[in-house]
Amino acid sequence: MKNIDAHNHVRGESVYLDDLPLQQGTLFACVFDAPHAHGKIKDIHLETALNMAGVAKIILAKDLCGENQIGGIIPDEPLLADGHVHFQGMPVALVLAESEETARAAVKTITVEIEPMEVITDPRVAFEKGELIIPPKRFCLGDVASAFKTCAYVFEGQANVNGQEHLYLETQGAYALPTEGGGLKIYASTQGPTAVQRAVSKVTGLPMHRIEVEIGRLGGGFGGKEDQANTWAALCAVGAQLTKRPVKYSLHRMEDMRMTGKRHPYSADYKIGLDQEFKIKAYEVVFYQNAGAAADLSPAVLERTLFHCTNSYFVPNVDATAYSCRTNLPPNTAFRGFGGPQGMFVIESAIVHAAEKLGVSPATIQQKNLLQPGDEFPYGQLAESEAVAAWKQADRQFNFEHLRRETADFNAENAYLKRGLALMPICFGISFTKTLMNQARALVHVYTDGSVAVSTGAVEMGQGVNTKMLQVAARTFSIPAEWVNVHTTNTLRIANTSPSAASATADLNGKATLLACEAILSRLKKVASEELFPQDDPAQHLEAIRVENGLVLYNNRPTALDWKALINAAFVKRISLSEHAHYATPGVHFDWTTAKGHPFAYHVYGIAAVGVTVDCLRGTYAVDFVKTVHDFGKSMNDAVDLGQIEGGIVQGLGWMTLEEVVYDASGRLRSNALSTYKIPDIYAVPKEIAVEPLQTDRPNLAIFNSKAVGEPPLMYGIGAYFAIREAVRAFCPEACPDFDAPFTPEKVMLSLHQLQAEYAD
Ligand code: MTE
Ligand code: HPA
Ligand code: MOS
Repeated sequence: MKNIDAHNHVRGESVYLDDLPLQQGTLFACVFDAPHAHGKIKDIHLETALNMAGVAKIILAKDLCGENQIGGIIPDEPLLADGHVHFQGMPVALVLAESEETARAAVKTITVEIEPMEVITDPRVAFEKGELIIPPKRFCLGDVASAFKTCAYVFEGQANVNGQEHLYLETQGAYALPTEGGGLKIYASTQGPTAVQRAVSKVTGLPMHRIEVEIGRLGGGFGGKEDQANTWAALCAVGAQLTKRPVKYSLHRMEDMRMTGKRHPYSADYKIGLDQEFKIKAYEVVFYQNAGAAADLSPAVLERTLFHCTNSYFVPNVDATAYSCRTNLPPNTAFRGFGGPQGMFVIESAIVHAAEKLGVSPATIQQKNLLQPGDEFPYGQLAESEAVAAWKQADRQFNFEHLRRETADFNAENAYLKRGLALMPICFGISFTKTLMNQARALVHVYTDGSVAVSTGAVEMGQGVNTKMLQVAARTFSIPAEWVNVHTTNTLRIANTSPSAASATADLNGKATLLACEAILSRLKKVASEELFPQDDPAQHLEAIRVENGLVLYNNRPTALDWKALINAAFVKRISLSEHAHYATPGVHFDWTTAKGHPFAYHVYGIAAVGVTVDCLRGTYAVDFVKTVHDFGKSMNDAVDLGQIEGGIVQGLGWMTLEEVVYDASGRLRSNALSTYKIPDIYAVPKEIAVEPLQTDRPNLAIFNSKAVGEPPLMYGIGAYFAIREAVRAFCPEACPDFDAPFTPEKVMLSLHQLQAEYAD
């Protein structure tokens, strides 16, 4: 089945926040944001702006009716600066004007006097100064200290990995409308309807039942709108509350890049110990997460880094510690993989480090240490591992030895072009690591014409979840897809939503939709029995009745009833044609006092072979292929899932290669536009992406035995980093670049010629 949005997307007819028709009297918002990264506000000059024609109001922290607080996990983030600024881009004042142009022009006239304070941008410096967002988190398995003593080889090093700009096509924004009696209706571009509702409730002082949040669709979120959409919704809400007029804010790209947080950069120290056979016996790692100026989702991201710090390998002795370090950067946030990819980059670096020193291929070490079914993760859950199966299938289908030989032959024949090959196995846990978040709801109505409306807590952001929800309903009722419509996400229809995140949206909301449809269907079957056999006890016929392809079958033979007649009969009999269902993932739990539990419903496995060619004169490179065997379970929709794989891979490649977030020492974002921040374009995408589904029948907890697909493919992109490194070393065997992602062409150039890089400023 095609993605149900394809038709409208291609014709430009899909409706995003900025396409909504505006109500008369709408005011336009623009934020004046902090020009300094840290300091005390001495004075703020609003006079010129206030005197401009068309400026309706300027709102400061002191004007809020509710609390000046939007922190989700920890209440440490003011909506508007109050006394101090903590990062460049922090909202200080909200200007409301009759037009967008006026609002932006007014913002330009505002000045602020700030007494500067020390600016920290480096997480290790923050750590030294005790600037931690939360106490450290730690996972331990076995006994590393004694294990290291028995190791034949021990290697220590540092690995750094930078952040990433989300660059959703649709920038952040919201539209808030005052409703009768002092309530608010908020159109938001958010992954988290309830998160917005909560934040708006807090800053306005209104109870949640007075606030309706409505979401049509997002032009991408990638984690950047899990919590950070709250700011813009809350600002518009405050504006609407104080002016009693609709308020809209749709950020310009540079505002968005400057004011919002990104993927977390990490710096890490690792120590890896292997025995004679290259079995990893011990792994010790310390992560310094660059959280930015407030907690946002950093604590949860930090946890997922630990959950994935051994990737798809079994390590019997692990000691992993993670610090969330407060710096004067915009608060960093969720980004596809949610800290997992950063943890995986570090162990891959450690393995490559060991392999280079031992003179073996990294693949040798990787393969020997793959998780086997029943192996224990450092957090206590036992692996249902497909890691070996994926490796073996990929070797069969892509022939690793052949790929290696091709690479070596090419390198023997070419002086200035060098190829590199890396294998990147992945293992990604599916479920929110915070157990309570693993619940969802669906509301299904069957109308008297037989058509079906589905509402869930899922937010469509390009990942195709609405198509999957429609498939669940159409398949469960066995009716044509055209008879089902999936509606907007709205907090009045579906309350208390978890954000659409953790790759679990289709799993959770799909299961809830299934439960709702099944409940209606079981009532309908009883009606069918009563209609077909009015004299009998309905229970005796239920087994024989099925609804299939819009017909009612009895013992597999058509009856006089079809779907529409059945619906009509149920309505006449006053049987409910609606259902609101709730699903909670069974079996998941985690206890932070012991740092053990069973946090994930299941894991997604896979492996990619990544091949690159580096131009060793220019430092530029091309990704020749990414060949993957990926664990889809039983895919619900091949086209949607292939899109997720391709998109994820390219996003991961971008993170590892071209995309370089640069803040200077004053905390100013230098890569603040698409001219200075390079994302993959059509030339940067792999020449070939091969995707083979892992052949497996293993049952899992996901909808229709599919598996979550949103985030895991991003991590295949990590292979590109190590493939480039291999090509660099093919040209210059002494080269030993730092493990420091992304491997931009500039860094490749410097390492090819063993030049020292001075990046800092
Ligand atoms: N795909 C598109 N096109 N746009 C997005 O914003 N977000 C990713 C992934 N794929 C995203 C996407 C992220 S971060 C997650 S967690 C999942 O989709 C969320 O959707 P799912 O739970 O339905 O997979
Ligand atoms: N993944 C993604 N988003 C989240 C999570 C998670 O595990 N926990 C809270 N938000
Ligand atoms: Mo995705 S980072 O869980 O929104």
